[in-house]
Amino acid sequence: MCGIVGYLGFQDPKKIIVDGLKKLEYRGYDSAGIAVMNDGKIKTVRAEGKIKFLEDKLGQEHFNGHLGIGHTRWATHGAPSERNAHPHRVGDISLVHNGIIENYLEIKKGLLARGAIIKSDTDSELVAHLVNEEILRTNNLFEAVQKTLSKLVGAFSIVVIWEKSPDELVAFKDGPPLIVGLGEKENFIVSDVQAALQYTKNFVYLEDREIVHIKNKEVRYFSADGKPIEKKVNHLDWTTELTEKMGFKHYMLKEIYEQPRAVAAAIGPHLNPETHEVEIKNLGFKKTSKEVFSGIDQILFVACGTSYYAAMVGKYLIEQNARIPVEVDIASEFRYRKPIIKKNTLVITISQSGETADTLAAIRLAKEHGAITLSITNVQKSSIDREADGHLYMSSGVEVGVASTKAFTSTLALLNVLALEIAKARSVLSKEDEIEGVKNLLAVPSQLEAVLSFDKYFSEAAQKLKDFKGFLYLGRGVNYPIALEGALKLKELAYLHAEGYAAGEMKHGPLALIDSRMAIVVVAPTDDLIEKTVSNLQEAKARGGKIISIGTGENEALKSMSEYYLSLPSASWMTNPLIATVPLQLMAYHLADNLGLDVDQPRNLAKSVTVE
Ligand code: AGP
Repeated sequence: MCGIVGYLGFQDPKKIIVDGLKKLEYRGYDSAGIAVMNDGKIKTVRAEGKIKFLEDKLGQEHFNGHLGIGHTRWATHGAPSERNAHPHRVGDISLVHNGIIENYLEIKKGLLARGAIIKSDTDSELVAHLVNEEILRTNNLFEAVQKTLSKLVGAFSIVVIWEKSPDELVAFKDGPPLIVGLGEKENFIVSDVQAALQYTKNFVYLEDREIVHIKNKEVRYFSADGKPIEKKVNHLDWTTELTEKMGFKHYMLKEIYEQPRAVAAAIGPHLNPETHEVEIKNLGFKKTSKEVFSGIDQILFVACGTSYYAAMVGKYLIEQNARIPVEVDIASEFRYRKPIIKKNTLVITISQSGETADTLAAIRLAKEHGAITLSITNVQKSSIDREADGHLYMSSGVEVGVASTKAFTSTLALLNVLALEIAKARSVLSKEDEIEGVKNLLAVPSQLEAVLSFDKYFSEAAQKLKDFKGFLYLGRGVNYPIALEGALKLKELAYLHAEGYAAGEMKHGPLALIDSRMAIVVVAPTDDLIEKTVSNLQEAKARGGKIISIGTGENEALKSMSEYYLSLPSASWMTNPLIATVPLQLMAYHLADNLGLDVDQPRNLAKSVTVE
């Protein structure tokens, strides 16, 4: 959370930084600010709220220097306000910070005792004070920053500039990402490559407790103790079009509509459309994937939010196909509950961003316990991807909307592939089941297209939903996590109270909530459990609940009991979760949009959760 841009080069820093911040706004939008050299002085402009308010304030403001830093904030310490906005200035030092300084109380106490005047409620300003104290002693920006790093505990990435040195910038990280973009006669420091992608394709990823020192055109890297280190330059072939709206009203809508293509890209490299064989190539393990998958005794998924719900689907898919025990854990719980990770456990982390702090900590913990790790990420070279032994990529393209959509369905597709691959490696997958599984998966992109073509019905259903006081999302089996995901989408986009439940759990409590103002959204494909689901719904309907159901084809029994019936194409039990997700995404989208809410950037959220 929080987005950082630092620039030193020959172009207008204001434009580069503000454009870069717009690309990073998904990381936080509580306030924004820039500090840029102008006539030998650092000029700072900050505004509460989204970057457009900063732009309004900046107006025609001109800066003639070539150095600057900028920040878009997701508030941790201190309310969202201009006073707490970054960059923070102390003496001649200006600084932007992403993350949390855990020992801030101790630092603050020391600073106050030494007479410091603290102007904001942030932990970030305290770091600026520490750098300022050091620079008054050393008169050297690099040394001042390096000395400060040793005083900080927590998770942070920080970029510092100094008014007395207009061609110099120092940055370091311990936790949240910080990436150096290497251009022609210009260099960038960003939280995400997207912020500099239009100027360079060459990036260096800082590891924890590494420092980068950019002076004029020279870029040098150091360990925390000040020793020079070599870093690898990564060349990315991403294009900037990936980050445009392409005529859609919102990024989220565009990303929902990209799902057929995204799913095809996720499964394409692993399926043979001629022989209908599954083969995941280049997982990156030291051993072959057959050796890894046949040698494990259990699988443990760890993830957060939507990625956690994808992992829950993975449990159903892998257990039923590969007959190996699978557990699923929320990363923030896993890391603190002293987990027992038995020998021969494969720990699979799922993270769209690859930067979620809890998931990153979880994979590190798993490695400490000797587990083999596999990451499923969308962002190659992200922190989690770099940490893992083996790698699978969602290949969804950049996901800008804060609510995850295409990354979720791409992950479900990959989990289908993985379930087949693990079953095959363990010799429990028949040739027929492999062929059928691959054929079913290859059919998903066109099924998704078909579901998207029903959007007007989902939009109509959304109209029906708007007056209810609460929502229960129900599903059974592999569709139970889809109900959870549907409820999360409604909560985060429309700010309405929704809960996901396993349909069979209704009579164990939630039935008490049912009255005519409670909507029940049910994922009920025609599968082995449909009759049980219909019985659960009868119980709710008898108590006045209004049912919106998502079924297969023309399911008359379901239709007759529903206020609104949404018909989906017939799909296998393994792939149904993918197509059933789309109506839930679109209903939440339309409902939120009709309410005039900010669909791409829901309140209080950020896309990349780099603090715990
Ligand atoms: C999804 O819509 C959410 N905004 C959120 O739950 C997200 O899935 C979660 O924060 C995990 O993110 P990650 O996949 O990048 O690790």
